[in-house]
Amino acid sequence: MTPRRSGGSIAAQLWRFSILFCMLSGIAAPAPALDFTAEERRRILRHGPWPPILQPDPSNRVSAKPAAIAFGHALFFEPRLSISGAVSCATCHRPDRAFTDGLPRSRGHRTGDRNAPSLFNLRFNRWFGWDGAQDSLWAQNLRPLLDRREMGVGSGGAARLVRSDRELSCGYRRAFGEASGADDERVFVDLGKALAAFLETQVTGRTPFDDFRDALAQGDAAGRARYPAAAARGLRLFVGRGNCAFCHFGPAFTNGEFADAGVPHFIEPDRVDPGRHGGIRKLRRSPHTLLGRFNDDAERSTAAKTRHVRLRQSNFGEFRVPGLRNAALTAPYMHAGSLATLADVARHYSTLDEERLHAGGERILRRLDLSAREVADLVAFLATLTEKKPLHEFVEKSENVLCR
Ligand code: HEC
Ligand code: HEC
Repeated sequence: MTPRRSGGSIAAQLWRFSILFCMLSGIAAPAPALDFTAEERRRILRHGPWPPILQPDPSNRVSAKPAAIAFGHALFFEPRLSISGAVSCATCHRPDRAFTDGLPRSRGHRTGDRNAPSLFNLRFNRWFGWDGAQDSLWAQNLRPLLDRREMGVGSGGAARLVRSDRELSCGYRRAFGEASGADDERVFVDLGKALAAFLETQVTGRTPFDDFRDALAQGDAAGRARYPAAAARGLRLFVGRGNCAFCHFGPAFTNGEFADAGVPHFIEPDRVDPGRHGGIRKLRRSPHTLLGRFNDDAERSTAAKTRHVRLRQSNFGEFRVPGLRNAALTAPYMHAGSLATLADVARHYSTLDEERLHAGGERILRRLDLSAREVADLVAFLATLTEKKPLHEFVEKSENVLCR
């Protein structure tokens, strides 16, 4: 029912009375809630519940182990894991910036080609990196240690540091239940696993959207009415005409796969980022995949997706669909940080050049021609995916004593 604000009907008087009542009792008058169709409700409910239940990672024998989480936490803030002694994971993944650096393309020893993604909700990913060049979180954590533009300490350098430093070697022993052995490569991979144990714990907290979604599921009209009207209109676009939820699917707002979202992928005028195409090629060359000797899952069931991956021409220019929880905190956007704000992202989908997209298969993305109000509505919706209270703690290394 849409209440009328003028006129003398009983309904209108009751409405005025309820507004007065709400004001007197200190509660804001609820705006009339947008009605969703049964199909829209079904689509909205798929984006929850939140938070999900975390399962340990079978490919990592120290996943969910408290001593490994503490060790990984210390490693995350450790600049001695870089050749200069000046760059740590937290240089580009700053806890006070939702684990990003705020730059279009991140900078360690030199500026790289891509935007530093936020590090929340990683346990739910199948692939890691914008191009999915890694098939596990622990393997992904090794990449910056090998790349000289980022940290570049290398496997030998990292293993030597752990063996020679009293606190780190103690942290290793507690996490893995034995002293770091003579196999550099194994110690190195174990650092990736401890870092993974730490990062898995970084899950985003509940958001206004989650409250709305649960109110919708429970038929709680008062809870629904608390959701801002503009966000509700943006949500309708997101699951409806915008078709955003096709790729930004499920509780984490990503289907975990790769797509061409029409973002130009030139790094320099004569150098292009091959995206998923390059990612699959790197994956095949890597000694650190789930098919190799470092996977702790004896059954190898975790390796099925890696075994079945196929290289196709259409992978060129595809990037991983990012999750959208906390997106309002992680500007700039897209794989090379080419869009500064969420409004720019909405306008990108609005004015998309369909000719640039892959023609293969059914067309998912269409130029949306959104009005200024629709752009604002989408942004209002995306803003409600921001956690109200972090589930994770931003504790710096100094407070995280490993061994005393
Ligand atoms: C110089 C900046 C820089 C440093 C230092 C750095 N990263 Fe990153 N990180 C990035 C960039 C850029 C990407 C995206 C890489 C890509 O797609 O090729 C990334 C991606 C990731 C991802 C993948 C996230 C996802 O959604 O798939 C993880 C996990 C990660 N980094 C963890 C770490 C850890 C752990 C360290 C320290 C050992 C670290 N990073 C150090 C810049 C950095
Ligand atoms: C065909 C799949 C697909 C559809 C449909 C889609 N997206 Fe995306 N989205 C992506 C991919 C892939 C990226 C990353 C592209 C890149 O970096 O080149 C992305 C990036 C984003 C980002 C930036 C996130 C970040 O951390 O950088 C936002 C925000 C976003 N999309 C919102 C939307 C909205 C809103 C819609 C609907 C209007 C939408 N998407 C529709 C695949 C899709």
